[in-house]
Amino acid sequence: MSDVLTIQSHKGPYEVRFDEAALDNLDSSVPADAHFIIDDHVADLYAARMPRVLAHRSVLRIEAREENKSLDRFPAYVDHLVGKGIRRDQVLVAMGGGIIQDITCFLAATLLRGVDWVFYPTTLLAQADSCIGSKSSINSGAAKNILGTFTPPRRIELSTAFLDTLDERDVRSGVGEMLKVHAIDGPASFDAIAADYASLFTDRATMVRYIRRALEVKKAYIERDEFDRGPRNIFNYGHSFGHAIEAATDFAVPHGIAVTIGMDMANHLSARLGVGTEANAARMAPPLRANYRGYAGHPVPLDPFLAALSKDKKNVGSGTVTLILPDGEGRVFRDTYANDAAFAGLCRDYLEAGRGA
Ligand SMILES: NC(=O)c1ccc[n+]([C@@H]2O[C@H](COP(=O)([O-])OP(=O)(O)OC[C@H]3O[C@@H](n4cnc5c(N)ncnc54)[C@H](O)[C@@H]3O)[C@@H](O)[C@H]2O)c1
Ligand SMILES: [Zn+2]
Repeated sequence: MSDVLTIQSHKGPYEVRFDEAALDNLDSSVPADAHFIIDDHVADLYAARMPRVLAHRSVLRIEAREENKSLDRFPAYVDHLVGKGIRRDQVLVAMGGGIIQDITCFLAATLLRGVDWVFYPTTLLAQADSCIGSKSSINSGAAKNILGTFTPPRRIELSTAFLDTLDERDVRSGVGEMLKVHAIDGPASFDAIAADYASLFTDRATMVRYIRRALEVKKAYIERDEFDRGPRNIFNYGHSFGHAIEAATDFAVPHGIAVTIGMDMANHLSARLGVGTEANAARMAPPLRANYRGYAGHPVPLDPFLAALSKDKKNVGSGTVTLILPDGEGRVFRDTYANDAAFAGLCRDYLEAGRGA
């Protein structure tokens, strides 16, 4: 019996099934009415474990690169699925990380006005965070994540066995999102995962426990605010700065690691803006710095960073930035701040001097 977490959504309930044998079970009874969309690298790595899946009549292998979740790639995906006779009562089965999730979720939302999809997340970021919450986000031209829908999968089959082959930087990218979710849950949760930070990388049971906890925390918010109109906004903690770091470095810094730097930056700026304290920034710094080690010295040019920050989706008017910052106790909340020369100076101070110092 697998362990199950049920999520309520506007399309009804859906389940996350924690099952280390998920891939073997799939390969031993491949659904005939499925259309597979699989990360090309995962298909290669796990070819011997899923011969029947890969021999299925409808398999679309896609390399997990940002360009491949761009709108101009979608006609080829649609042509493939139409060529394979996709019908409304059939199901898309996605296997991969956030990129494959975004592509499949967007296709599932729009093909034939909606088909079901099932997700086998293979990255830690997808397992501990993005697999629930319904969002798809795809790119158009230079605008990242500009198009999207809210379309939950029917089911998520979560096997941490996939993590065995993940690069360390991709593990740390997922851990960055886990630190974020625990910070949102409150200082005690953050301190708990901080104390177990090293064990996450060496002990699978510890990792599974914190993945499950991260999903439980997120579940409570998405069930209250699936469409991200209010309480769910705080999941963007670390993201305004993180997205700007990704954009300013041409995506050289992986998403969850940029978010980790973004949280550290939010903590320090919060103290400088007088809403938080240096003591809180210092309390939260050890696991954040450990998680972005190797990237602390990566140059983040200020002008592209500020330009990206000004374009953030969360901003409401011009001349302001909407940020999620911690208070003196480490509880995060959303507020709007003037995007002026003084604010740019605080960003410069952090990016040029403060990081990891
Ligand atoms: N829709 C959402 O809610 C949401 C949330 C967060 C991020 N995202 C998006 O997700 C993307 C990032 O996703 P991600 O970090 O999960 O990874 P990814 O899909 O970018 O994959 C990262 C790398 O890991 C490889 N990989 C995947 N599984 C593997 C495995 N088991 N073993 C070895 N290698 C494996 C991939 O081939 C790729 O090289 C971004 O495009 C981001 O915008 C979406
Ligand atoms: Zn994120």
